[in-house]
Amino acid sequence: MESVFSGQKISLYLGDSIVLDNLNFEILAGEKVGLIGSSGAGKSSFLSLLNGQWQSTDGNLNIWGDSFAKLQGKRRRRVQRKIGTIYQQLNLVESLAVVHNVNAGNLGRWSFLKAAVSLFFPLEQQRVHWALEQVGIPEKMFAKTSELSGGQKQRVALARVLIQDPEIILADEPISSLDPQLSRDMMDLLVDLCDRHGKTLVVSLHSLDFAKSHCDRLIGLKQGKILFDLPADAVTDAQLDHLYSDSPLY
Ligand SMILES: Nc1ncnc2c1ncn2[C@@H]1O[C@H](COP(=O)(O)OP(=O)(O)O)[C@@H](O)[C@H]1O
Ligand SMILES: [Mg+2]
Repeated sequence: MESVFSGQKISLYLGDSIVLDNLNFEILAGEKVGLIGSSGAGKSSFLSLLNGQWQSTDGNLNIWGDSFAKLQGKRRRRVQRKIGTIYQQLNLVESLAVVHNVNAGNLGRWSFLKAAVSLFFPLEQQRVHWALEQVGIPEKMFAKTSELSGGQKQRVALARVLIQDPEIILADEPISSLDPQLSRDMMDLLVDLCDRHGKTLVVSLHSLDFAKSHCDRLIGLKQGKILFDLPADAVTDAQLDHLYSDSPLY
């Protein structure tokens, strides 16, 4: 399988603190990787590194074989368009209709003018409809986003990423605000979409159960270090206890 990300000796400092510490990893095309670990372990930071929002202080991150840090200008934008991120806080504009929030997934490839026109005359409605169908809420296309439930908003955020049609989906605790049934629906949806369209998924999760049931591989982060990187069914209870305990790393 093709290598999507490969990191060698990656460290990230923010201010004076070390947030990611000497990470080595490889993520292959089509893999579904779960990032787990306590709050503050570095999961969100790791995702920000993978989408190029942050650059490592030390070490090298390759994306599709190219050094991410060395990609600039047009080539960098082209690569970043292939990465879709679902942020924990969703970043939806509540006052706008769903169609506009989904269309925001096009901003990477639309001109400013096209984007501006679309605010008044929504463009590519068929695509938006398709994306909303994929996430199961096509009837909400013209609903005001603020009037949706939490679960529906999560779906809008996912539809926006689908419109972007990225090859990689990064999701930061996409189910943290959902009840168990909606969490299951959302995880099923995410995994099913990645499977059907051959996308690579890296998802940080609070819930161990969903991490085990929906990911093929788990990376356990503790205090910015990789404690284990194993097939999901190979992770032991002892490793999980250690991951979430306050005890030192080694
Ligand atoms: N912008 C920032 N500046 C300084 N420190 C940060 C910043 N963002 C996160 N951190 C620190 O980095 C560590 C990891 O945070 P984060 O990646 O958000 O962990 P997680 O997502 O696992 O909860 C934490 O100690 C946090 O305080
Ligand atoms: Mg986080």
